[in-house]
Amino acid sequence: MKHTVAVLAGDGIGPEVMPCAIEVLEKVIAQSDIQLDFQHALVGGAAIDETGKALPEETLRLAEKSSAILFGSVGGPKWESLPPAEQPERASLLPLRKHFQLFANLRPALIYPDLADASPLRPDLVEGGLDILILRELTGDVYFGEPKLRRGTGAEEEALDTMIYKRYEIERITRLAFESARLRSKKVHSIDKANVLTSMVFWREVVTEIHKDYKDIELQHMYVDNASMQLIKWPKQFDVVLCPNMFGDILSDEASQITGSIGMLASASLGAPGSWGSNEHPFGLYEPAGGTAPDIAGKGIANPIAQILSAALMLRYTFKLENEAKKIESAIRKTIGQGHRTGDLLQKDGGKSLSTKEITQKIIENL
Ligand code: IPM
Ligand code: MG
Repeated sequence: MKHTVAVLAGDGIGPEVMPCAIEVLEKVIAQSDIQLDFQHALVGGAAIDETGKALPEETLRLAEKSSAILFGSVGGPKWESLPPAEQPERASLLPLRKHFQLFANLRPALIYPDLADASPLRPDLVEGGLDILILRELTGDVYFGEPKLRRGTGAEEEALDTMIYKRYEIERITRLAFESARLRSKKVHSIDKANVLTSMVFWREVVTEIHKDYKDIELQHMYVDNASMQLIKWPKQFDVVLCPNMFGDILSDEASQITGSIGMLASASLGAPGSWGSNEHPFGLYEPAGGTAPDIAGKGIANPIAQILSAALMLRYTFKLENEAKKIESAIRKTIGQGHRTGDLLQKDGGKSLSTKEITQKIIENL
């Protein structure tokens, strides 16, 4: 079977770490019965420079005929002076999520036991590693709610966004949370702000209703402010964390830092309601959770692991190649276990840091 993968490397470290992911993928799938045709296209600031648009029509057409998007990262200081609506992040990533209805964003926050030292939390809080799955709703909420506008003048000038959820939007992400929990430790924390916001009262109601179909799963509701505190106080209480879009944005950054380096975090954005867990190949966008890291871009020292792990998620969720995904993940575990580190992972006692290419070679040797 031959599938097209749209490769959108983007800006900053994106074009440096993307080739690492592709090299690993090519090695791993060589022994499977699937063939991947990697097609590159412009996105983000690079696309603005070339075509004037962060998401050119050509890129969108390529993505439409692909089975998955392997995304790098977009944005950077060069484009920060553009009007907000034209900036790379807003004008490429958000429209892609909406266009493909990628409503489910999986952000696994993992601490590898060998990297527990890299976490800013006290060692006893993260000892033995940590494995949290942030499941973030991605196409609703205040990100996309209408109206979204500015109006008026003078002291009365105002701006507004709308926090809004439809029942079906809450239902589908909640089912995914419970389904995911079944494959893990059967525990879901649902995050909201039901003590203040009407949309969040509704969120809690719908989650509670859906829970009736998943009585084997333990459900706990938690206000977002409390959750942000609990995450650093006692992260091990969490397994699957179900979040509305904006709270998920915030909590996933917090969770990522707990793991020590955002350079280790992959994410999958999935759509196609109903295809979850079936034999179909759900379309997905796979990207590192970190940004373009302009401070280290161009130096060849970026950590490629998040990009490589994103490729592993693509094998798992879109191509249903669980063994191949695991192969990549264990090669990374092994590489870390052998003490190989990029600069971002170096511990207090220092040590030798490998370049982007060097660590990729180590991972490939360990496949
Ligand atoms: C993320 C990012 C995006 C978001 C930005 C870049 C639009 O922060 O994926 O978490 O807010 O969703
Ligand atoms: Mg974010």
